[in-house]
Amino acid sequence: MFKTRITEMFGIEYPIIQGAMQWLSRAELVSAVSNAGGLGVISSLTFPTVKELRQEIKKTRDMTDKPFAVNVTLLPTAHPVNYDEYINAAIEEGVNIIETSGRSPEPYMKLLKEAKVKVMHKVARVRDARTAERLGVDAITITGVEAGGHPGMEEVTSLVRIPIAVDSVKIPVIAAGGISDARGFIAALALGAEGVLMGTRFMASQECPLHHKIKEWLLQAKETDTLMIERSIENAARVLKTDFSLRLLQMEERGATLEELLPLISGERGKRSYISGDVNDAVIFCGQVAGLIHEIPSVGEIIDGIISEAKLIGERLHNPGISK
Ligand SMILES: Cc1cc2nc3c(=O)[nH]c(=O)nc-3n(C[C@H](O)[C@H](O)[C@H](O)COP(=O)(O)O)c2cc1C
Repeated sequence: MFKTRITEMFGIEYPIIQGAMQWLSRAELVSAVSNAGGLGVISSLTFPTVKELRQEIKKTRDMTDKPFAVNVTLLPTAHPVNYDEYINAAIEEGVNIIETSGRSPEPYMKLLKEAKVKVMHKVARVRDARTAERLGVDAITITGVEAGGHPGMEEVTSLVRIPIAVDSVKIPVIAAGGISDARGFIAALALGAEGVLMGTRFMASQECPLHHKIKEWLLQAKETDTLMIERSIENAARVLKTDFSLRLLQMEERGATLEELLPLISGERGKRSYISGDVNDAVIFCGQVAGLIHEIPSVGEIIDGIISEAKLIGERLHNPGISK
């Protein structure tokens, strides 16, 4: 059940993919998702050197014999990154699924195609999905505005973006943004997606290496407890609503410059807060779906729960209407 072109392409049991999360998508989380039948994704830029990325890939392989992927996020960074080096390291370590995100993968497509790896590319605009297909990627992930991380500047919801993306490309589409349970999973498949990708749901899992105070903050967060920052620098990001992020938003409204904002939005700062558990020391990426998350289960429980509940929903939908 739930076999799609995505399960076939990646050799996984269920079309459930873990969203790359810098500092968090390490071997523990990634292997747990893959062992549970989904696809775990290592965030390569978590590792300041390629040597450390190689070690993490080896560690992940020690923890699972199932497929997993490596994400390369092509967003602007404080220090220049040699993306070719990261991609080459993943390829040489035998990873055969690479996810790109943040910017067009065009400069790396030759390298990726020659290595015969499967490429998924994450986009926040339908026109970028079409471009990615033309460039030769094998699958695209489309993110709605409710997603944690960078859901694009256009503020279009998943419910609208997913079917438009599905109608716009022939390659399989993975849905991201606002999915945390079987209802979201089935809804995404109904919209024509062939897989789902979840970030926020896996943040609040036992295996995610995030301080328990932040996981608990997520549990009490409502769907209205996130906000969009960095619109002023054309890099919209959905984060938890905290005193820190509200202050940052006020700075943007007052016209703060990039130089003023950079020290506050730097990835290093985020890492510090994930470890210390201080939600007011950095911005913390988080999707609106936090409002639907009330427990911190294991990754296995999350995935098994989605699949078993989705089967029940499937049966119910065979005979929709008012039950007697
Ligand atoms: C804490 C956190 C960190 C993230 N870091 C990255 C990242 O480094 N690269 C990336 O492409 N996406 C990143 N994302 C986006 C996720 O991979 C995914 O697209 C998104 O979480 C899906 O929406 P959802 O949060 O509603 O599930 C991050 C999301 C979160 C919540």
